[in-house]
Amino acid sequence: MTEKQVLVTGACGEIGQALVQELAKRGGYKIITSDLAPLPDSISHLAAEHVQGDLVYKVKIFYDYDFDVIFHLAASLSSKAEIATEEAHRINVEGTMQLLMLAAYRSEKYGKAVKFIFPSSIAAYGMPDIAMKRKAGTVREEEWDSPHTMYGCNKLYCEKLGTYYSRFHGQKHLDEHPPVMMDFRAIRFPGLVSAFTLPSGGTSDYGPEMLHAAAQGKPYACFVRPDTIISFMAMPDAIKSMLMLMDAPRENLTTSVYNVAAFAITAEDFRQRALSAFPSADITFEPNPRRQGIVDSWPEDVNDSRARADWNWKPDYDVDRFFEEYFLPEIRKRYGK
Ligand code: SER
Repeated sequence: MTEKQVLVTGACGEIGQALVQELAKRGGYKIITSDLAPLPDSISHLAAEHVQGDLVYKVKIFYDYDFDVIFHLAASLSSKAEIATEEAHRINVEGTMQLLMLAAYRSEKYGKAVKFIFPSSIAAYGMPDIAMKRKAGTVREEEWDSPHTMYGCNKLYCEKLGTYYSRFHGQKHLDEHPPVMMDFRAIRFPGLVSAFTLPSGGTSDYGPEMLHAAAQGKPYACFVRPDTIISFMAMPDAIKSMLMLMDAPRENLTTSVYNVAAFAITAEDFRQRALSAFPSADITFEPNPRRQGIVDSWPEDVNDSRARADWNWKPDYDVDRFFEEYFLPEIRKRYGK
């Protein structure tokens, strides 16, 4: 069997490391990675090749590669993107645009649709205020698409660009013999929590930061209020959802952008769970108004019924299984507590 050639950008990030490990475990993939940084030990032996550097300038190298699938994970996350907004736009939009052009070119030229899997985010939503957030509850893909952050604007726009390149590029779909178009598929992730890595630069980071600090016996001052609520997901479920979406037959997909959800809990729920596992955990709340505002603009939860209907999506980990069967056993091994 010939191997599928796969590109993973942002491979050193949390999703990247977990995805490369899972692809290698599955087998049948030649994995090419790219990132600003060298690959960490956790995955350096799993990649056939690593291209280190700024994707915006490195992308021309990839025109000679015959990728079947591109996982474009490289991004500047929401809190960081509010500090360096133009740089975030360059990374999040320019980088994506360059890769979309590559995928479109190769798909049309060689008549083989390159799959482009894009992690979007609950940041693509923007609730006008906390009262509306509470009232709206669980939201669908097409609702409240007015993000408050640079990162959210970037993700929403890139969803649109990807859909454009896979369906309408140059209006060639109207030709008598339309070319093969690239195959863009996006998932809007909630906050992700891994037992093995920590996020950096995001705004849902208080969840994983609090748990990792508690497990290490380090004090933690949470940067949002105790009643703050958004949806979260275990990293293995995030990886599962990307691979399920990759494998789904194109004719089953009724949209190119899908919500996925697992469990919506508050910052206080995280604290209580941390305290019951690590009774001496020292967790306080010191809300940061700007980061609080970002999370308050994200919905309480998302409706993922389209993903469930179109590609049989269902998370393995609800909140209890997340803590009992994934996070706590792994984190105890990791920190020896
Ligand atoms: N977890 C990301 C962040 O907080 C959202 O996609 O920026």
